[in-house]
Amino acid sequence: MSPNGTSDRARRRVEGTAVAAEPTYYSRFTLGQRYLHGVIMATFMGLAFTGMVLRFSHSGWAHAVALGVGGFTAILFWHKFCAVILTVAFLIHLGDMGYRGIFQGQRGIFWGPNSMVPRLKDLQDLYGHFRWFVWLGPRPKFDRFAYWEKFDYWAVFWGMGIIGISGYAMWFAPFFARFVPGSWLNIALLIHGEEALLAVWFIFAIHFFNTHLRPGSFPMDLVIFTGRMTEEELKEKHPEEYQRLVETGQLQSVLASSPQLWLKNFGRTVGVVVVLSGFVLLVLTLVTFFRGR
Ligand code: HEM
Repeated sequence: MSPNGTSDRARRRVEGTAVAAEPTYYSRFTLGQRYLHGVIMATFMGLAFTGMVLRFSHSGWAHAVALGVGGFTAILFWHKFCAVILTVAFLIHLGDMGYRGIFQGQRGIFWGPNSMVPRLKDLQDLYGHFRWFVWLGPRPKFDRFAYWEKFDYWAVFWGMGIIGISGYAMWFAPFFARFVPGSWLNIALLIHGEEALLAVWFIFAIHFFNTHLRPGSFPMDLVIFTGRMTEEELKEKHPEEYQRLVETGQLQSVLASSPQLWLKNFGRTVGVVVVLSGFVLLVLTLVTFFRGR
């Protein structure tokens, strides 16, 4: 193993000498990004469960959950607790983006093939992908972030804006009531509850399907836990990025060691627990919403 964590086998593979049975891994997410995703995931789960118990407080399952954790007052306490941590994580991410983009001159964060900012290519990929679904064209060559990955990313910004502001408005109602009519706070509750329901359904149905359950990733994509993907996955899922890394001679700079077994098992365990509990909440909220009780 070399000092930068690159395995000798992986390096030999790039140099084209020996091909071993174990796959070559490339880095996709930094440790900081993985931690941040972990915090956002954990707090979102907490907010979703406590929020839905508040939203459907008239139903039997919500009563049972509330009783189990000490009542609705306790539920609201944990909701606010998770909200504060999620807000801090979100602000850290914004600060990190701003610092790297503005002070460290990493303009690629704001625009270009490695940026989360949508480009014309994303629209073209979306169109091409739907054509591919119905056998009318080839599969688009996705870059570092596919259009649906960017959509998922920006959905969090949108959600944090709408859900976050309305949530803090309700939490600190007397303060906000100094600036806006009281009726706006009732509207805030309505917006908060409906947008949160949309966010829960979106994350537990679309995001989980896109990342873990679609063909090619099923049953679990471990990249957000290990931070690495195999060469085959990189070529298959992000062919445009792979090609660019090869052409610019940067492929070697993202070589990574194989993820440890404990890390993969940790990712599998957390992933299964989160996806399954998300699915349970999805079913409970859908049934309660459409049955009305
Ligand atoms: C980041 C900031 C957030 C803050 C500050 C916040 C704050 C609050 C507060 C104070 C309430 C209680 C309102 C009342 O007094 O009845 C509430 C309710 C609720 N929250 Fe949040 N929340 C946040 C994020 C979220 C998220 C991410 C979700 C779910 C995805 C969520 C889902 C809900 C739901 C469903 C309710 C119940 C609404 C209803 O009764 O119709 N919240 N939130």
